[in-house]
Amino acid sequence: MRIYAIANQKGGVGKTVTTVNLAAALAERGRRVLAIDWDPQGHLTEAIGVEVTPGASLARALLGQWSGELSELVQQVNDNLFVIPTSDDMFLLEPQMYGKAGREYLLSRFLDTVVSIFDDVVIDCPPSLGALNDNALVATRKRPADDQVQGKIVIPVQAEDSSIKALRLFLRQMTTLQEALNVEFEVAGMTVNMYDGRKGRIATSTLEAFQTHPIGVIGVFKDLKEVRESWRLRTTVLEHAPASETAIGFRKLADRLDPELVTAAAS
Ligand SMILES: Nc1ncnc2c1ncn2[C@@H]1O[C@H](COP(=O)(O)OP(=O)(O)O)[C@@H](O)[C@H]1O
Ligand SMILES: [Mg+2]
Repeated sequence: MRIYAIANQKGGVGKTVTTVNLAAALAERGRRVLAIDWDPQGHLTEAIGVEVTPGASLARALLGQWSGELSELVQQVNDNLFVIPTSDDMFLLEPQMYGKAGREYLLSRFLDTVVSIFDDVVIDCPPSLGALNDNALVATRKRPADDQVQGKIVIPVQAEDSSIKALRLFLRQMTTLQEALNVEFEVAGMTVNMYDGRKGRIATSTLEAFQTHPIGVIGVFKDLKEVRESWRLRTTVLEHAPASETAIGFRKLADRLDPELVTAAAS
């Protein structure tokens, strides 16, 4: 099982859009994909239009306060795409994590229980650098090469100065966490969202700065109407506008993250 954390503490950079559409692209390639709404604000739940089963709660499951069936937590979107929506008590998870030993591993331990069910997990991270974000990063930590679970971090950014500052802060938090827990993370790269070269020098020079950064850019998405339309229609861009530049971009991103997909599609 491959775990992708779509993370950046900066809000509005495209984490949720990336999660939804990357998950849809992986599912389209035949992978069984679980997308997790790991942001208490529930934008992913909203964007994909899934209902929350009353009483079912990932937050309480992680705290050992709920032990229902996995099928109550997971909602099916299409043949291969599944979502764990957020729940009202997701807001309570982070404060309740503090003080718990091994709190950074709660999500990771839960994901260990679904290894035989899903091929990929895509986590939509919250716009903050707290325990929730730490949990998502830790779930992607490097394991031995033969481990069943492998993970990567994808960082959506926008071509703006404030995004560069935010990136620095994010990377610092990553380093702190790696040192504190003695784990290692692999960052697959940045995706630049809502890119508009017509905005001039600020946009183009920021894109350049990202491209020459050691982390590198693995996808550039323009400001595209299909994204907003599909959000409003509560579906994915791949479903709403399958031939669009955006849909193609997300398929390329999926292939780039998982080169095995390219081989499978060609055969
Ligand atoms: N490539 C894009 N083109 C047009 N609108 C976009 C694009 N990416 C994101 N958006 C819009 O920008 C807003 C913020 O994106 P979102 O994915 O919610 O960011 P985050 O999860 O990082 O807060 C949303 O309303 C979304 O529909
Ligand atoms: Mg979001």
